[in-house]
Amino acid sequence: MKLFSPLAVNSMTLPNRLVVPAMVTRLSGEDGFVNQPITDRYVRFAQGGAGLVVLEAMAVHGSKSGPLLRISGDEFVTGLRDLASKMHDAGPGKCAPQIIHFLKISRTGWRQKVQDLSVAEVLAIPGLYAQAAVRGLQAGFDAIELHMAHAYTLSSFLSRHNGRRDDYGGSLQRRLRLPLETLAAVRAAVGANVPVGIRFDGEECVKGGYTLDEARVMALRFAQYGVDWLSISAGGKFEDAQPREGEPLYPYTGYSGERCMPGRNYPPAANLYIAAGIKDHLRQHGLFTPVVATGKINRPELAEDILQAGQADLIGMARPILADPDWPRKVQAGRFDKVIRCCYANVCKAKDERFQTVTCFLWPRGAIQAPQSTDTTPPVWPAKGAALVADISQARVSLKWNAAEDAEGVYGYDIWRAEGTSPPQRIDAVPGAVHAYHDSNAVAGLNYRYFVQAYDFAGNRSVASSEVEVSMP
Ligand SMILES: Cc1cc2nc3c(=O)[nH]c(=O)nc-3n(C[C@H](O)[C@H](O)[C@H](O)COP(=O)(O)O)c2cc1C
Repeated sequence: MKLFSPLAVNSMTLPNRLVVPAMVTRLSGEDGFVNQPITDRYVRFAQGGAGLVVLEAMAVHGSKSGPLLRISGDEFVTGLRDLASKMHDAGPGKCAPQIIHFLKISRTGWRQKVQDLSVAEVLAIPGLYAQAAVRGLQAGFDAIELHMAHAYTLSSFLSRHNGRRDDYGGSLQRRLRLPLETLAAVRAAVGANVPVGIRFDGEECVKGGYTLDEARVMALRFAQYGVDWLSISAGGKFEDAQPREGEPLYPYTGYSGERCMPGRNYPPAANLYIAAGIKDHLRQHGLFTPVVATGKINRPELAEDILQAGQADLIGMARPILADPDWPRKVQAGRFDKVIRCCYANVCKAKDERFQTVTCFLWPRGAIQAPQSTDTTPPVWPAKGAALVADISQARVSLKWNAAEDAEGVYGYDIWRAEGTSPPQRIDAVPGAVHAYHDSNAVAGLNYRYFVQAYDFAGNRSVASSEVEVSMP
């Protein structure tokens, strides 16, 4: 598979094409130091075998925030060095911190905008990124990713909502100025051979925001300035965030937030056209900067098709790797059937929003890390069988079944549905304590077949339950 082929990115060679994009864990305290739970989370990601793990956004400056890692002073280097070293020992992949500058927000709903920054404050930003990048190298990371996506400072300069009237706002060239100066400052500080990537929005996904049209040009300029990879995200903006009384605005609560972390109601690879459009534009200009596509990509065939079709060079998987850090290792061994599959319930997103430890809805209740097991015996149905039944009420199909049994415990159930004569699709998953499911997406005029499969902590699946057939009235 191309997915498991290496890729040279400047001086580093990624062992495969899988990237874990940055995902805030909220495991650090507000002091921003690396601690044991953070180490455990990233060592686990590294063990899982992804080609590149980008560590959660860490602040380049001292501004107050909720729990967030920091790289804003030399005092943070020791902890980060220990983390990088443990990640290198744990797996074959490379690791890079994502470094971020953000503006101030308050519980009153007020937020600082780029037009509120003095010129001196603007001019200080490239240096803050450059110093943080150097600290990242001192800590032993293989590469550095500059956060220019979502609601944060550099993204807000790129934005069409940048309200500055000086050389840093207005025309596209002016909006690009600070991000390019930042890239240049980082490059000057780390040297030509250190891989430096940028994550930015390929579409803002807010009214009046920029779209792929301008993002293509931004990508081209970043590539011309020598960036080593472009990781394409979308949305996550303050402009359409939903205010909540007494809480700071969270930039993933509006439509643009949904586009950033597409939930159950979005199709697979929902944002792929953006990365593909950017890559195509770069190639038309003779530039071969690797492009990372992310957003609801979690089946190996889909990832492989994207790479084979040349729509992206690398595949980003955030929530799927949170759900099962061993996705890369299992899939490389041909065992996708053992992967615990993300169901895009976005509980992780909701936890991030509340500054709570980011965990996965599918993990056992109370767990702060993904479970691990070497068990090889799959769950079994009880003697009375799964006895799956379906009931139609309120124009939805309600399924119920008997609990499966497993020596270590049943971790969850996959819900499978076939429409008419089409092959069954796994439509969702529920945690092991739940033996019921409501399908609200069945409509009259179509026939459905359902079955469920139990899985254990190692991802061993039971045989399929008995099936039920349903015709909606
Ligand atoms: C809990 C959580 C935290 C995130 N934190 C970051 C972050 O720090 N930086 C970033 O660029 N993206 C962040 N993202 C966005 C992801 O990197 C990714 O783009 C998004 O989840 C869509 O990819 P997926 O469908 O593979 O999950 C976060 C996403 C989640 C769910």
